[in-house]
Amino acid sequence: MKAYVIQDGFGLNHVVEVDRPIPTPARGEVLIRMKAASLNSRDIGVITGFYNPELKAPLIPVSDGVGEIVALGEQAAKFRLGERVSGIFTQSWKTGEATQDNWVSTLGSPLDGMLAEYVVLPEEGLVRVPGYLTDVEAATLPCAGVTAWHAIVEEGKVEAGDMVVVQGTGGVSIFALQFAKLQGAKVIVTSSSDEKLERARALGADYGINYKKNVEWDKSVLEITEGKGADHIVDLGGGTTLNRSISALKVGGQISIVGILSGASVEGLSIVPAILRRARLQAINVGSREMFERMNATIERHGLRPVVDKEFPFAQSVNALRHLGEDSYFGKIGILF
Ligand SMILES: NC(=O)c1ccc[n+]([C@@H]2O[C@H](COP(=O)([O-])OP(=O)(O)OC[C@H]3O[C@@H](n4cnc5c(N)ncnc54)[C@H](OP(=O)(O)O)[C@@H]3O)[C@@H](O)[C@H]2O)c1
Repeated sequence: MKAYVIQDGFGLNHVVEVDRPIPTPARGEVLIRMKAASLNSRDIGVITGFYNPELKAPLIPVSDGVGEIVALGEQAAKFRLGERVSGIFTQSWKTGEATQDNWVSTLGSPLDGMLAEYVVLPEEGLVRVPGYLTDVEAATLPCAGVTAWHAIVEEGKVEAGDMVVVQGTGGVSIFALQFAKLQGAKVIVTSSSDEKLERARALGADYGINYKKNVEWDKSVLEITEGKGADHIVDLGGGTTLNRSISALKVGGQISIVGILSGASVEGLSIVPAILRRARLQAINVGSREMFERMNATIERHGLRPVVDKEFPFAQSVNALRHLGEDSYFGKIGILF
């Protein structure tokens, strides 16, 4: 089979195609013929060594994918041959609260990921995906989808009438917009592009703020909310956004700390504005298998479709990863096997 691996160093020029034997499922495992993968900001962070400078190569990158079960290991009885499944991002986090031990079981680093024609995973680390979704749409769910679901629904408990802010128009943000709209919330999207804001409006966003033209986007949130602030902010920017998220928050509101798109540390974090707002800062780390299953049930009930901007063939996986580094897409980038 063909697979891509990171080897002999960091950076996209160290992602190379290799031939490997098709793996054999052991007890409790299944063999999956991959149909599609999707890319997350994290995948580039893994490839550049930003996430783990000690990464053990060779490693198959990319956490998210969907495929068809083509062989069952001994005692694997949860799924049938031919069923379409997706790996859960954190393989060992099935239910309840995560533990520190869970973090060594994430796909696409430190465990091998999905950029291979065949993948073996434990059946306990899989979920069925909604049947009406295309393969690429289904492949977008494990990281970006579950993270947004966790932030908006499981932890955020966003309700009808709430005002929600999502930052940028990448994978997590667009899923968060979609889930917040399902909850009946009003949504403000920030973006560096007016054209992308128009696309967000077409998906149901109520307001758009161009954070490049309007650096003080927090003030615009306050204007939109008549000085009250937003009930829930999904903070994806990190470094340059967290202080502004606090200043744009309603008293008693919640910030989901999710991303580090503008840096992984915040200079001059202002604590007093957070205290004045009784801000609840809740960090999110993707989610459990149960969350994934609950999200899938809701997606199916509403016929929700993930937003895929562009699909690349498997043979152009490196180009797809390069495209991920360019911020020119809206929603998700897919890879078709
Ligand atoms: N904690 C977790 O469990 C978890 C899970 C998934 C992802 N993440 C993190 O969440 C972030 C988003 O991930 P993703 O995969 O959705 O990213 P993505 O799809 O690569 O998002 C890219 C988009 O983010 C927007 N952006 C970039 N810099 C920004 C800034 N300073 N302020 C606001 N928006 C900005 C841009 O949107 P515009 O072009 O519209 O400006 C860009 O197109 C990443 O930092 C990722 O590592 C965390």
